[in-house]
Amino acid sequence: MNLHSHSISSLQGVLTVPGDKSISHRAAILGGLAQGVTEVDNFLCSEDCLNTLRAMEQLGAKVDVLEERQGYGPVRFRITGVAMSPKAPERPIDCGNSGTTVRLLMGVLAPWGITVELTGDDSLRRRPMRRIAAPLELMGARFAPEGATTLPLSITGTRGLAAISYDSPVASAQLKTAILLAGIFASGTTSVHEPAPSRNHTELMLPGFGVDVEAAPGEASVAGGQSLHACDVDVPGDPSSAAFMACAAALRPDSAIDIENVSLNEARIGFARVLERMGADIALKPTGSAGEEPCGTISVSYVEHLRSCEVVGREIASLVDEIPVLALVAAHAEGTTVFHEVGELRVKETDRLAAILEGLSKLGVRAWTEGDDLHIEGKSGLVVPEGLVFDSLGDHRLAMTWSLVGFTGAHPVSIRDFEAVRVSYPGFRADIERLAK
Ligand code: S3P
Repeated sequence: MNLHSHSISSLQGVLTVPGDKSISHRAAILGGLAQGVTEVDNFLCSEDCLNTLRAMEQLGAKVDVLEERQGYGPVRFRITGVAMSPKAPERPIDCGNSGTTVRLLMGVLAPWGITVELTGDDSLRRRPMRRIAAPLELMGARFAPEGATTLPLSITGTRGLAAISYDSPVASAQLKTAILLAGIFASGTTSVHEPAPSRNHTELMLPGFGVDVEAAPGEASVAGGQSLHACDVDVPGDPSSAAFMACAAALRPDSAIDIENVSLNEARIGFARVLERMGADIALKPTGSAGEEPCGTISVSYVEHLRSCEVVGREIASLVDEIPVLALVAAHAEGTTVFHEVGELRVKETDRLAAILEGLSKLGVRAWTEGDDLHIEGKSGLVVPEGLVFDSLGDHRLAMTWSLVGFTGAHPVSIRDFEAVRVSYPGFRADIERLAK
């Protein structure tokens, strides 16, 4: 579907965004693997998380839907776990577009004596998998074809994995989580050390499932020989989805919105810190917690002038999925904004660095890379040309980013394959239009 995203006069009011994608994946996986029945509430029923849920069903978990979001899927369900004995599925597991699904599943499958074939869509088949396979091989899992770098591949797990202490070359929560999930069933203590702290949802969720974890920013370790017991999970709103609404309000004159019940986990709200530094009127108000996740309200009001800022390498993991939309805000901020060490964007759902450069050039904004750093020469009061057409390239975050050019600017824009939003935020358009005054 192509979207004609029209301009709106302002964004006003209160909203909640759908459940967090990372936490929803982990709830389905831990609940599906555990012994007993886990109830998950406010699950993100988007394509990515439904792929994880279906994968756990293929491995033998049973899902009873308690509440559906019409047209999308379950938001509340009970999952009866496989009690740490996943069965070999009859067909390959198709992870669709979801990197989190396939990478976490590799960690799930490594400790069991079954062979499972994993595949995905064209985008996922281009993404690097060696970064996960390499440490799991050190622990004792096997992959075919030998040395496989991309999907499709098959993993053969083994009971009695060896624990490892792993210095990760990337700050990746997917990589850290895969190793920790395997480590729960290894002999000895498995540790992961990261070059910068990545999101810590796995470490926060595992103790509820009865697994002791030691964690500090950039480090996590788990002793082997533990077991998982069912634990209900209440999923807070997704800060990555909230970021689109926050940036829309920051860009559209006269806007003032409150986004309630969002995860305020520090490892996820880097975008808010960057908006603050750009001079945006944004406030985070803690209201409580969902399990071990802090949550609260994000309030954003429009201000006329934004300024450029520097985003350092150590911050990137806390806003990695928000860089496309922050790049759009940077285009409207006076001066040159630099995002340092963002090479990981080249291996997301698309090459997001290339897509950002191309999209910003349509706006008449100078942007370039120097090595892995992204530079954007923004202009306060930027006037966007009429009649722009963007291509999401099948990437949900690009679809939402470029739609904001239309929603917050003076002229409508067209987005090719806007439907890609189904991956993380199927109701995005309806939510933004609900706030439009
Ligand atoms: C995720 C981790 C991040 C992020 C992805 C979700 C997760 O990827 O980009 O959308 O749930 O662990 P990396 O771990 O590759 O940085």
